[in-house]
Amino acid sequence: MEALLNSSKLLQHWPTIVLGVLLALSIKYLRQRRRVIKKELEGEEDIAVNFPQSTADDDLQPALEEKPHVLFVPGQSLNPNGARRFYEVMRGRRSVRAFNPHKQPSQEVIEDCIRAAGTAPSGAHTEPWTFCVIVDSEIKQTVRQIVEQEEYINYSQRMHAQWVTDLRPLQTTSTKPYLSDAPYLILIFKQTHGLTANGRKKLHYYNEISTSIAAGMLLCALQAAGLCSLVTTPLNCGPALRRLLDRPANEKLLILLAVGYAAEDCKVPDLERKSLEDIMVKY
Ligand SMILES: Cc1cc2nc3c(=O)[nH]c(=O)nc-3n(C[C@H](O)[C@H](O)[C@H](O)COP(=O)(O)O)c2cc1C
Repeated sequence: MEALLNSSKLLQHWPTIVLGVLLALSIKYLRQRRRVIKKELEGEEDIAVNFPQSTADDDLQPALEEKPHVLFVPGQSLNPNGARRFYEVMRGRRSVRAFNPHKQPSQEVIEDCIRAAGTAPSGAHTEPWTFCVIVDSEIKQTVRQIVEQEEYINYSQRMHAQWVTDLRPLQTTSTKPYLSDAPYLILIFKQTHGLTANGRKKLHYYNEISTSIAAGMLLCALQAAGLCSLVTTPLNCGPALRRLLDRPANEKLLILLAVGYAAEDCKVPDLERKSLEDIMVKY
């Protein structure tokens, strides 16, 4: 009888019990989401918000040396018609997926292109990039193995059906011969943070944007040098490639670039570009 009374009391309170359980589950879910989001943002702009506060204000030092400003000296210009000439060079850029393995661009040209990329602007002049240049055919072969293994899983499991369908006109697959055929692979890493001269952690604000700008400048330089390139972002390969190249944990792979000359029978998709009217809004 007593048990019956207890269970009927329990029944009376069922809305409170259900609400309690739902509340507990929601809190658990929100905590999990917060952990995931924090992990996703780790090393990104978020780092600026989460940086541990210094104990004393006079302990704060800028990462850059404080020096008097110098007079601005304008750089060289390609004028007359510099912009038009630059556009004419850039409109010839295409993503090339078939490289001539026998035609090798000179190391000096590649170095000059990376020098050009290194002139990119960066958040608080942190220069948060590392360009790893691979010429060694065994390392290129290992890169290819790592990428093809992951891309097989990406295409068959990780990428949703719409993504795979959207790639169909480009005729890309999980097989990547260009990774061993291209004479150079340039792996562009963003550095999520660095170290100051006295060994303190240096924040790399907007490291992804800064490194992407540098990568864009590298593409322009390669094009100006008459070379072909392919930007790739192989999903889930970053950690394995970072370990292969023995890069530190604060470096995260942003772009894997294949560089060289196109194979003679290289074909590219027949793409159209948006017109100026489509991409520019005048006020
Ligand atoms: C961020 C980014 C990621 C890309 N990832 C890949 C990739 O993983 N594999 C690939 O074959 N092409 C990749 N591409 C190349 C694009 O497919 C290519 O730029 C686009 O189709 C336009 O062709 P175009 O470069 O010849 O103008 C990527 C391009 C960008 C900008």
